[in-house]
Amino acid sequence: MEQNRGTWSSRFGFLMAAVGSAVGLGNLWKFPYLAGENGGGAFVLVYIVLIVLLGFTLMLAEMTIGRHANSDAYGSYNKIKKGWGFIGGFGVLAGFLILSYYSVVGGWVLKYIVASFTGIGADKSGYFSNFISSPVEPIIYHLIFMGLTAVIVIRGISGGIEKAAKLLMPALFALLVVTVLRSVTLDGAMEGIRYFITPDFSEITLKVVIAALGQVFFSLSLGMGIMVTYGSYLSKDEDLEKDAFLIPSLDSLVAILAGFALLPAVFAFGFEPGEGPGLMFITLPAVFEEMPLGMLFGALFFLLVFFAALSSSISLMEVTVAFGIDQFKWSRKASTIFFTTLMFIIGIGASLSMGAWSDFLIPWIDGNSYGIFDFLDVFTSYYLLPAGGLLGAIFIGFIWGVPNAVKEIKMGSAFRTEKLWTVLIKFVVPVLVFIILLSTTGLLDK
Ligand code: PFF
Ligand code: NA
Repeated sequence: MEQNRGTWSSRFGFLMAAVGSAVGLGNLWKFPYLAGENGGGAFVLVYIVLIVLLGFTLMLAEMTIGRHANSDAYGSYNKIKKGWGFIGGFGVLAGFLILSYYSVVGGWVLKYIVASFTGIGADKSGYFSNFISSPVEPIIYHLIFMGLTAVIVIRGISGGIEKAAKLLMPALFALLVVTVLRSVTLDGAMEGIRYFITPDFSEITLKVVIAALGQVFFSLSLGMGIMVTYGSYLSKDEDLEKDAFLIPSLDSLVAILAGFALLPAVFAFGFEPGEGPGLMFITLPAVFEEMPLGMLFGALFFLLVFFAALSSSISLMEVTVAFGIDQFKWSRKASTIFFTTLMFIIGIGASLSMGAWSDFLIPWIDGNSYGIFDFLDVFTSYYLLPAGGLLGAIFIGFIWGVPNAVKEIKMGSAFRTEKLWTVLIKFVVPVLVFIILLSTTGLLDK
């Protein structure tokens, strides 16, 4: 069996799948609004520091575990050390909960493909809040997004999506660059550019660090074993170090570009940088209006965002579905239908929490109360994913052992940053993530 798991037909195929999982709504939708809410340049600076310290380090760690054990996330940890499969189990729960609300936002993107043609009107902000707070329409779009993801996963045709991504990702990149050019040349854009690239050090608070840490995990699809699974299909002569450098670099490039597409325009049009989850949906249509053939351009742009979201949601669903297949011996179809139904129902709650159910709040250990949508986001990005990453680092540093991991990495190539990586994975990552996790719960404040 093991021998038949196969490997990627090409290095490019692996990179496309990994980049397809990483680049998604996290980059285009979440990163710009988090930057807008957390002091602009201050957030960007902390984000970049954390990518350098943690992102590359954990990306390499996950890929190495997967390639060594040659199994899925749960199986890989368990195979290296019996009883440690639960780290992969963390990832299953995280993937399940993330997709429940990710699909709601995916639905918003679908709506905006349509709305690019039918028109949004002058009040971009009102249009968005009207739409997301209405009881039925966003749930229909959520159903379509979830359904499409499920169909692709049932048919096992994600390979087709990866092929499509070879074309669509570069296309998205090109359109993003054009949008950036339009945005930064708007009257009054300079203030937004300054806001985005100049870190105001007094703005670097604990809250900013917590938000940036969660975003690093979310954006790189780390802390839930996806990269373990993908790494398991890599051949032994693959240069893991190079891949672990390339994927976070590309992902961060797209996020930064998205920031340049949105924040200068936010200031130029007089919107609020702290607008929150609506930032992309309010700002982009206003930018497209300032472009020739803006309606078509806008529809195409949201279509490409939709594909980026879909290639991420497939990887999210795959983790959950594979769990059902392996642990409960369900068929792929049964597992997909079962979990899709559950995620769809939770997503209904997330969607309604934007409107009809906005008064329903979940009290949480940090002293705040969250609506369903926010709770799913906070619980996964700020707790589950960092905890998964922390456990992964401890696993390599103290259970499997760094020398064993290094031996695996060196099978494919020289390991140029061996000493640095050793210190990072064994000490810096666990200590940093642990401290931030503790402060996230508010325990340090008491
Ligand atoms: N990385 C994806 C994004 O930035 O949109 C979202 C995501 C996919 C998170 C897969 C986690 C994951 F396992
Ligand atoms: Na991402």
